[in-house]
Amino acid sequence: MATKSIKDINLSGKRVLVRCDFNVPLKEGAVSDDSRIVAALPTIQHLISQEAKVILCSHLGRPKGEKNAIFSLSPVAENLAVKLGKPVTFIEDCIGAEVESEIAKMGDGDVSLLENVRFYAGETDNHPEFAAALAKLADAYVNDAFGTAHRAHASTAGVAKYLSPCVCGFLIEKELAYLGEKTAHPERPFTVILGGAKVSDKIKVIDTLLDKADTIIIGGAMAYTFALAEGRQVGESLSEPDFIATAKSALEKAAKKGVKFLLPVDNLAVKDLDFGAGSVGASQFFEGQIEDGWEGVDIGPKSIELFKEEVAGAKTVLWNGPMGIFEIDACNKGTFAVAETIANSDGISIIGGGDSVKAIKMSGYSDKVTFMSTGGGASLEFLEGKELPGVSALDQN
Ligand code: 3PG
Repeated sequence: MATKSIKDINLSGKRVLVRCDFNVPLKEGAVSDDSRIVAALPTIQHLISQEAKVILCSHLGRPKGEKNAIFSLSPVAENLAVKLGKPVTFIEDCIGAEVESEIAKMGDGDVSLLENVRFYAGETDNHPEFAAALAKLADAYVNDAFGTAHRAHASTAGVAKYLSPCVCGFLIEKELAYLGEKTAHPERPFTVILGGAKVSDKIKVIDTLLDKADTIIIGGAMAYTFALAEGRQVGESLSEPDFIATAKSALEKAAKKGVKFLLPVDNLAVKDLDFGAGSVGASQFFEGQIEDGWEGVDIGPKSIELFKEEVAGAKTVLWNGPMGIFEIDACNKGTFAVAETIANSDGISIIGGGDSVKAIKMSGYSDKVTFMSTGGGASLEFLEGKELPGVSALDQN
């Protein structure tokens, strides 16, 4: 079954509640990374062109059910108005009589943005009363908040019980196509690169992708747990001894299924890592094993070459998770080399959200990849094969 999309229906003249993920970083009262606003534009512009009354809502941060100006969505309204080239009325609440009277003033094709839905505890509690109060504002519901689709909250799931039709927007449709379809039926060879700190965070993704990929490449600190599983020493590197058995099972599954499973063959290790200060002290490359007293912080040049060769032959590449502590200059070579390799690959390149998106932006290659997910936790849960409440609540074709 496919989720019904905004392109399947006509919402002309209707009041449409659109859940976006405008959980964007702010700096000095202004939006400092507008990627999620840009990603929501196709749906908003489509609704404007259909002459719908576009009522946008979102959360920002975690205000814990209380009104707090720090988490106001007002800077998003300003940013969005510039992008749309038309006014966006910011409504200083998200439910209640005053909001309803503001919405009653809207003309066809007008756009309003409601205040942060998480100013009410009913949002995260998915309280039926709060969901019904939101639903009262509109005739139809569009969910385009992929980044929050893993949350069963009132504005992402509960509200769908009180409105019809309920469809996904263009962003969710695209996310499902790239993270879902293109990885379920990939053009082969399909290479997956997974990184990040913990095996425990990614084991479900690894397990699910072992059923789909031809090659899995592991980098980042979680590779040290795999190294321990292979009986190698990792010095003082971050690892999870409790997950050695889990890592072993993944290696066995890969061998059984004939999936190529690549671990780093060398690493950059340091003596005195100070994340806050961005300093590492003495550094050295190690092959195979890392000596006591040294902490692995990045993949080394031989691993970079090995991973590059593998990606070069792939028709589909999915990347989730950095290869090292890319926030520190001395440890970013591996992550940025992977970013460059993926950006230059001829195949379909999919960046699975979170830190990998941050890394590809920092490396300057973001406009060369096929698709960058706007989800962090949502991408991960979707790649694990979990159902997303914000999607399953919608009408199905
Ligand atoms: C995100 O940034 O990952 C989403 O907006 C979800 O935010 P949350 O983790 O606070 O629910």
